Amino acid sequence: MRPTLLRPAVAADEPLLWDMLFEASHAGEQGLTVADLPTISALSRYVENWGATGDLGVIGGPAAAPEGAAWLRLFTGTDAGYGYLDDTIPELAIAVAATARGTGLGTAMLERLIDDATGQYAAISLSVREENPARRLYQRLGFVDVDGSRIVNRAGTTSLTMVLRLG
Ligand SMILES: CC(C)(COP(=O)(O)OP(=O)(O)OC[C@H]1O[C@@H](n2cnc3c(N)ncnc32)[C@H](O)[C@@H]1OP(=O)(O)O)[C@@H](O)C(=O)NCCC(=O)NCCS
Repeated sequence: MRPTLLRPAVAADEPLLWDMLFEASHAGEQGLTVADLPTISALSRYVENWGATGDLGVIGGPAAAPEGAAWLRLFTGTDAGYGYLDDTIPELAIAVAATARGTGLGTAMLERLIDDATGQYAAISLSVREENPARRLYQRLGFVDVDGSRIVNRAGTTSLTMVLRLG
């Protein structure tokens, strides 16, 4: 098995985060490209000006060619992300490049990010489509469904919010 390479996300990682946001948001299904994302405020708010106060992230994969990212950002009630719970709970975004999925990188990044966030935040939230296999990963790491959070998403299917309370 190859070693899993992880490092903290820094401001210079913003271009990679746009690519990973494209994967995490499934924007390709709507005929969008990565270049469209900065013009869509509901999505751009997850990445724009990466490195702001409160941002916390993990980059995974070889240093010369990163393959994934998991990151947290705080939102406010007037600028809420899809999985917003309150101003103190950051929201997770995570993706691995299609060619590198299913090899454990997503799990490793999220475990590291949870470790890094513990002590800094009381909880982490996220929004996920009900049919996304990533739900199994979130459940395994302790995320639970937020009651009453199911909504119809941009694709016309169901999304819900999950939360992990940190020790
Ligand atoms: C979700 C994701 C980040 C997981 O990363 P990964 O490196 O593939 O994950 P791992 O190999 O550690 O496997 C963990 C879980 O990821 C999910 N997963 C694995 N391969 C996957 C794939 N090809 N597509 C979607 N999810 C996959 C499964 O839930 C898996 O758990 P399981 O073994 O119980 O089925 C990655 O698959 C991905 O980028 N998916 C598309 C973007 C996305 O949906 N992001 C989450 C939005 S809420």
